[in-house]
Amino acid sequence: MNPAYFASWFPFPDNSQLDWEKLGDTDYLYVSHLHRDHFDAAHLTRFVSKKATVLLPEYPTSELEDELRALGFSSFLKTVTNEVVELDGGLKIMIQALTSPTDGPIGDSSLWVEYDGVRLLNQNDARPTDLQRFTDLGHVHAHMIQFSGAIWYPMVYELPQSAKTAFGKQKRERQFDRTFRYIDDLKASQVFPIAGPPCFLDDSLWHLNDIFGDEGNIFPDQHEFLIEYAKVGGVNAHVLLPGSVSKVTAADCETSHLVDDLDDFFANKESHLKEYRERQRPVIEAAKLTWEHPEIDVLAGMKERIEPLLEESLYLAEGVGGPVRFDLTDPDDVVIESILVDFPGKRVVPAADEKVRYRFRTERRLVEHLLFTGEVDWANSLFLSCRFSAARIGQYNEFVYAFFKCLSEERLQYAEGWYDEHENSTDAEDITLDGWQVQRRCPHLKADLTRFGDVEGDTLTCLLHGWKFDLPSGRCLTSAGHHLRASRAE
Ligand code: FES
Repeated sequence: MNPAYFASWFPFPDNSQLDWEKLGDTDYLYVSHLHRDHFDAAHLTRFVSKKATVLLPEYPTSELEDELRALGFSSFLKTVTNEVVELDGGLKIMIQALTSPTDGPIGDSSLWVEYDGVRLLNQNDARPTDLQRFTDLGHVHAHMIQFSGAIWYPMVYELPQSAKTAFGKQKRERQFDRTFRYIDDLKASQVFPIAGPPCFLDDSLWHLNDIFGDEGNIFPDQHEFLIEYAKVGGVNAHVLLPGSVSKVTAADCETSHLVDDLDDFFANKESHLKEYRERQRPVIEAAKLTWEHPEIDVLAGMKERIEPLLEESLYLAEGVGGPVRFDLTDPDDVVIESILVDFPGKRVVPAADEKVRYRFRTERRLVEHLLFTGEVDWANSLFLSCRFSAARIGQYNEFVYAFFKCLSEERLQYAEGWYDEHENSTDAEDITLDGWQVQRRCPHLKADLTRFGDVEGDTLTCLLHGWKFDLPSGRCLTSAGHHLRASRAE
């Protein structure tokens, strides 16, 4: 309900008119993961009954539990990934936690629910490599799934507009492809596009809303989803707006809405957003006032926070492989300080004119605030806010973002351990795809390429996250350092 990521993301449509007191008077609480557009601390504190039992995903770190305890929740049911639990009254649930360093902020999850023979999967933002564990439990009647963008790419990159549009268009298509692939895997009776898009109400981010007919916009709404889904023959999707109610049975689904006409609502999206923006203007202005901490020495703060972690980091630091520069600006966008995070040299120093791997440009007050609040996850705070621009030399490098997501001992150790295990595991099984023999599991996050692999010419695309591999050489074309074993099938 409240904005996330430096007051940049708001829920779309506005949901503030709901009776949150009543909705919060609940027996159970499930929070899928710690992304702040899902974990709304102010809202949970104010509206959700502290008597609720939290259904907790099995995450490698205790952060989600710790944060919920700090808000006053004390009853926890710690689930085990992929194990069904029966609750009072015969409701069955199962939570599948994903735990790679690139899943959410160290963890993302899906919730499966069964009652009286009717099954629902709330897949949410999670991207399991396959949905078999859920299909094994019987036909699913309702599939709730994210379909829109939730990232800063490519909008923040300093690129010519035509390139941005081309990359954005690819990204938008990939998001839909991936969603349709999951829908096809699960074959649920009904589909509900959920968990997005965000909307952007600050004037400086207004251009990110999908209201300008830009085919490169990565934040399509539910109505756009219906249009695209119909093109691939999808006829079983239902839009949910705040206050909508769907009654799903084994045989059918009936949905009612607070608005009279859905098509009308989406046709008037721009005016809805403009009114919403006026209502939220004071909220955004108040948030901005909290960001400035001029007393903070940013260089010293980053040194203190980052250098010990660089010292301990093997895989992430090596994966980044070069220096990363932060250009910090005043609110008028003039650079007032430049700081270098030197990954090979394992130090944080004032930047001169070194050649860098990545360069980020953002307001100094945002970094002041990250240091002031002790934020451990700059990817899921600063970067998701889209309040920065970026430039890079060479390929996308997942280690850069993984490192800035892990600015605590606990997270860093977990991520290092995860990469250690995966680098050293052998993945021996091969499959044949369109005349090529390739390893079965994607080198990125192990998607099964029999389902997600797509070969065109000499390029294999894994449709789970869209990574591309050059088949003759095995080289990853999307990110540094992920080789695919591949050869001609003959
Ligand atoms: S698992 Fe991410 S692209 Fe294949």
